[in-house]
Amino acid sequence: MPTRPLIIDTDTGSDDAVALLLATAGGLSDVRAVTTVAGNVPVATSTRNALISLETTGHTGVPVHPGCERPMMRSLTSAQHVHGEDGMGDTGLPDPTQSPEPTHAIDALLTYPREHPGELTLVTLAPLTNIAAALLRDPQLFTRYRHVYCMAGAADTCGNISPTAEFNAWADPEAARIVARAATPEKVTWVGWDVSRKDAVMTPADQQHLQQLGTPLATFVHRINRTVGDWARDVTGLAGYDLPDPVTMAVALDPGLITEYEEAHVDVAVGEEARGQMIIDRRVSAPTPNMTLVRRVDEAGFKRLLFDTVTSPAPATDAR
Ligand code: BDR
Ligand code: CA
Repeated sequence: MPTRPLIIDTDTGSDDAVALLLATAGGLSDVRAVTTVAGNVPVATSTRNALISLETTGHTGVPVHPGCERPMMRSLTSAQHVHGEDGMGDTGLPDPTQSPEPTHAIDALLTYPREHPGELTLVTLAPLTNIAAALLRDPQLFTRYRHVYCMAGAADTCGNISPTAEFNAWADPEAARIVARAATPEKVTWVGWDVSRKDAVMTPADQQHLQQLGTPLATFVHRINRTVGDWARDVTGLAGYDLPDPVTMAVALDPGLITEYEEAHVDVAVGEEARGQMIIDRRVSAPTPNMTLVRRVDEAGFKRLLFDTVTSPAPATDAR
């Protein structure tokens, strides 16, 4: 399979970290840059965690650009109750050796695709603040990317942060709305939390398998997701912890993993009662679809990719 050049926007908490591992350790992509944003944790912590994750796979040369410190119109509500105070399961990871870039994430998101038009795939794993801000400066931004994959929302309106909303869409609904309204089905593929809940849950058997693999990457994945496991048990009631960002990354790396999708017209609610809820118009009279909405993924294929990645040989240190 050809390697895909990627830009990844992330609020690096524990599942974002696994997505970064998939992107860097699996050999299926060439991560050109990472942009960070406030979400799971404050942006300084998500930047730290992104650097740690890249260093874990030896990719010390990937530039990391810190971005927005809070949502466009609201204060930040983090998910440290889910991912731990440090966003990485409170595992006491040492500081990274590399430093972030001075260029702001918004500038990076605008500049890279202008330098490589139509070449780069953008994968967003976080509240869409950086992306929406970039779109306000360049409304044609998405046409400059090869494709955009977004982890946001819940297409079945079964939420994880509110009864009907998913965290990334809820944290910055105005940004999510700007992104949805700039999307087209040809350019934007959207993966909601419903996909994660159905097809990307690490069951006790999967967790045991991960532990038994015992490689440094398998152990890293297992440890940093401990607090998410507790939260899944107590709040979402899933049969294990789910991996929304990794399953989105898997789809971006191998779209053949998608087993069910629809083209739909989607907006995002910004009112308080339904904050961040996806509004999907499936009427005959609905406006033209604005995105490709993934509904199911090959669960076995996704987990195979994850297990293969964490057992792949240690990559050479990449200090480009
Ligand atoms: C999303 O919110 C965060 O907690 C995860 O990192 C993921 O991006 C899932 O709702
Ligand atoms: Ca995330």
